[in-house]
Amino acid sequence: MLKLNKSAKSLAAIAAISALALTGCGRTESSSSSGSSGAAAGFAQDSLIGVALPQKTSENWVLAESLFNDGLKAAGFKGDVQFANGGVSEQQNQISSMVTKGAKVIIVGAIDGAQLGTQIQQAKSAGATVIAYDRLLLNTENVDYYVAYDNFKVGQLQGQALLDGMKAKKATGPYNVELFAGSPDDANAKVFFDGAMDVLKPKIDDGTLKVVSGQKDFTQAVTQGWKAENAQKRMDTLLAGNYTSAELDGVLSPNDTLARAILTSVKAAGKATPIVTGQDSEVESVKSIMAGEQYSTINKDTRALVTHAIQMAKDLQAGKTPEVNDDKSYNNGTKVVPAYLLPPQIVTKENAAQAYANDPTLSALTK
Ligand code: BGC
Repeated sequence: MLKLNKSAKSLAAIAAISALALTGCGRTESSSSSGSSGAAAGFAQDSLIGVALPQKTSENWVLAESLFNDGLKAAGFKGDVQFANGGVSEQQNQISSMVTKGAKVIIVGAIDGAQLGTQIQQAKSAGATVIAYDRLLLNTENVDYYVAYDNFKVGQLQGQALLDGMKAKKATGPYNVELFAGSPDDANAKVFFDGAMDVLKPKIDDGTLKVVSGQKDFTQAVTQGWKAENAQKRMDTLLAGNYTSAELDGVLSPNDTLARAILTSVKAAGKATPIVTGQDSEVESVKSIMAGEQYSTINKDTRALVTHAIQMAKDLQAGKTPEVNDDKSYNNGTKVVPAYLLPPQIVTKENAAQAYANDPTLSALTK
């Protein structure tokens, strides 16, 4: 979504709803607030809390599984934490089953945020509170809260890192770049891309950046299923078609898995290493950054996100309204979802040691 001025806001609210339906974009600016609809009267301490996670498309999801299992147990809840590696219908069945088993809170990291309306409705009818985790649930009034890192900010940080990294290598442009986005069924993918384009588009327009392939739109840049092999194939094709003589200065990559696939492709083509962005602070990417290959990643500590999601469940259990800090940014096409947004942090070789100081696994890689 574009940033909008005030006079455009009411029109934009209507436009945003139709645009969301078409694009799956989950972020907009709106002056309306739905308030907190999920405050329950409290429930038994040992209640069932369901956590529906998507496929294991990046390390953060795998980390989340054990953190949810341990954290829910420590809070005295019964946890039911499920992955849906088989796809959307498996996730639909898992959520239905959590409802049937009487879950009081269902925390959902959706594979496809637009395909869970029926199950989320079932959850609400059964009296459960629904929390969208990391990825927004679209086109439903039945999602109560959203807990995530600020996805638009993630994109802006990626766009700025791409510019900074290229500038440090070569003081002036024009710079040849290519753009990658995540999976179009994940509501986050468009938000990351829009955040990055908020920074990059003015530089494309003034000629500082040249997208040599001409593929500047989200729909051209997407990577189905967040799959490394799809990004690698697209990069192979882009290189063969556009860079036999031209140099490639930088690539916008929405996450670490895709960044490494892009770097593999560039290496195989025998090209010099371009500036490549990322996200998630995956172990292999932090190693790559320290070795001077991948340029940047984003620190979105999964421990903090899971802790906050569990805190929301604890508040609901105690009959309290969970804390939110944003009531305007995430319009899901039906309502603005009250959100708790955590701040993402850009990480390059320069600040890695400091950024990961409180993460034993990652800080060991920066020594
Ligand atoms: C998450 C990213 C992750 C991607 C692929 C997104 O929804 O926010 O952290 O890289 O999914 O798993």
